[in-house]
Amino acid sequence: MAHKMDFANRDRLRDSWRREHLDPATLWRRAGLASGSTAVDVGAGIGYFSVPAADLVGPTGKVYAADILPEMLADLRAALPGAHASRLETVTSTEYSVPLPDQIADVVLLSFVAHEVDEPERLIQECSRLLKPGGRLLVLDWDPAVEPPPGPPTEHRLAEETLVKAIASASLALESRRPAAPGVYEVLATRRS
Ligand SMILES: C[S@@+](CC[C@H](N)C(=O)[O-])C[C@H]1O[C@@H](n2cnc3c(N)ncnc32)[C@H](O)[C@@H]1O
Repeated sequence: MAHKMDFANRDRLRDSWRREHLDPATLWRRAGLASGSTAVDVGAGIGYFSVPAADLVGPTGKVYAADILPEMLADLRAALPGAHASRLETVTSTEYSVPLPDQIADVVLLSFVAHEVDEPERLIQECSRLLKPGGRLLVLDWDPAVEPPPGPPTEHRLAEETLVKAIASASLALESRRPAAPGVYEVLATRRS
């Protein structure tokens, strides 16, 4: 069974390693997020990526931060700058279902979440459902070929090839693959029409 991050360890989601290696604004921009865009951050945690996304989309855009743990989302809301309240909405999701309409998003982010589910292909399918045609899915996750630290034990990680296969079977076209940070892979895909 896939291993989920313990809520008690949530401060790791904003540690110095992340701040040095994973710049949220740079990653969102790589996926095409811009002023007026709609983003869905699936498995948003405490909002390390969602809050900067709300800066990028500006007052005419929208960010949905979805997570299965309401306590993560409560933490996110507590740290949310007042100006962002109307453009960032938290959404409590279930394992393979985000309660948002089809084709709502220009960009969907799945950051360090795919390795936490038993059936990553079902979660990728759900991400695809949320994307507008031409919209992009950005996936970040731990490379099992690289020893920790940082990150979870290698046996808890998800092979990049498994993810790429899931993408191919979910109406998504693979756009690029690259290392995003030491021990972290990035896969970018586009929703076909
Ligand atoms: C390692 S944390 C990453 C958080 C955030 N994406 C980041 O990179 O800062 C994984 C998060 O995904 C959430 N999660 C796990 N399985 C999920 C699922 N099936 N759907 C939505 N969220 C999920 C967990 O509750 C946790 O908040």
